[in-house]
Amino acid sequence: MAKEIHFIAPQLNMVNLPDVFETEQSAPSNIALVKYWGKHSVQLPMNPSISFTLNKSRSITKMRFEKQQTSSEIVSFNFLFEGNARSTFEPKLKNYFETILPYVSYLKHYTLHIDSRNTFPHSSGIASSASAFAALSKAIIALEKNLFPDKPMSFWQQKTSFLARLGSGSAARSIAHPVMVWGQHPDIKNTSDLYAIVPDVPMAPVFQNYQDTIVLVEKGQKKVSSTAGHSLMQTHPFKKIRKQQGFDHTKQMLDILQQGNVEGFIKLVEQEALTLHALMMTSSPDYILMQPKTLHMLHQIRQYRQDTGVPVCFTLDAGANVHILYPNAYKTQVLSFIKTMTERDIIEDFV
Ligand code: PMV
Repeated sequence: MAKEIHFIAPQLNMVNLPDVFETEQSAPSNIALVKYWGKHSVQLPMNPSISFTLNKSRSITKMRFEKQQTSSEIVSFNFLFEGNARSTFEPKLKNYFETILPYVSYLKHYTLHIDSRNTFPHSSGIASSASAFAALSKAIIALEKNLFPDKPMSFWQQKTSFLARLGSGSAARSIAHPVMVWGQHPDIKNTSDLYAIVPDVPMAPVFQNYQDTIVLVEKGQKKVSSTAGHSLMQTHPFKKIRKQQGFDHTKQMLDILQQGNVEGFIKLVEQEALTLHALMMTSSPDYILMQPKTLHMLHQIRQYRQDTGVPVCFTLDAGANVHILYPNAYKTQVLSFIKTMTERDIIEDFV
């Protein structure tokens, strides 16, 4: 708890709280280049990770805070998704509010009316928890900023990431652009396990505006949740070596982004994607999230790169969808290649 104390909001007298506060906040999805896989304690990462923050795939969350006559010991809320009540999300949100309440105790005085939507198609298999928890945290922090206007921007960014992390680990990295690192790393300044940071190094021009075209191979709910996958890492036979590799790769990736080393980027990004899925296939119990079409596309992308010299590569999330990453200068060529490769729906996003 030592360092977390920094994020506990001071107690306020109820009379000093506004009766009503309304905000609308939006947060993007992110794609990990070096993956977070495995956690301990309260949502702390086994190894550091680094991601591109996306732009088009976002969650947009409206929140209306209405002051109650008397405060309660839990956060009272109601939640709409795309305008409809969605009881399936409620237990997760209840749990989330319980976890964050010690840091945002002013919420006890309010009923929260939450209305959230995504810009990407519902049930597309795109990880929505990162953007959703980031947008939710931004909305809560909008109220807190109003209550304590003198705190610096750096504090608000850290606390937003800190709260988002408690909802979903990768959500910690959905707070700022263009790249975020989450997890304490001895060779990367200002890093923390508690929140993600924007590294203090300039990115080479080639990596600014990098494209991420997502091919939706499998829509709908994942068969094995990330939570289950993370916990299988606790007893994974490759745990120790993966942990060290995560540290090494995060630093290597940061150097690659700074140097504009596209060749090194391709090698490391694909290795990370395949490692993530290899860890799933070698855990106990093992499981496979790739579909035949996923694997087929990975071969096609490598073949296309070899045949044309176009610097395109793939990465994967904890699912069957394929993220195709490439410099903006190759957009037209790569999009027409993707059309020849698949007729499935795509989402064109970028850094
Ligand atoms: O944030 P979670 O708990 O859903 O975990 C996501 C982990 C990966 O997406 C597979 C990797 C990552 O770093 O985003």
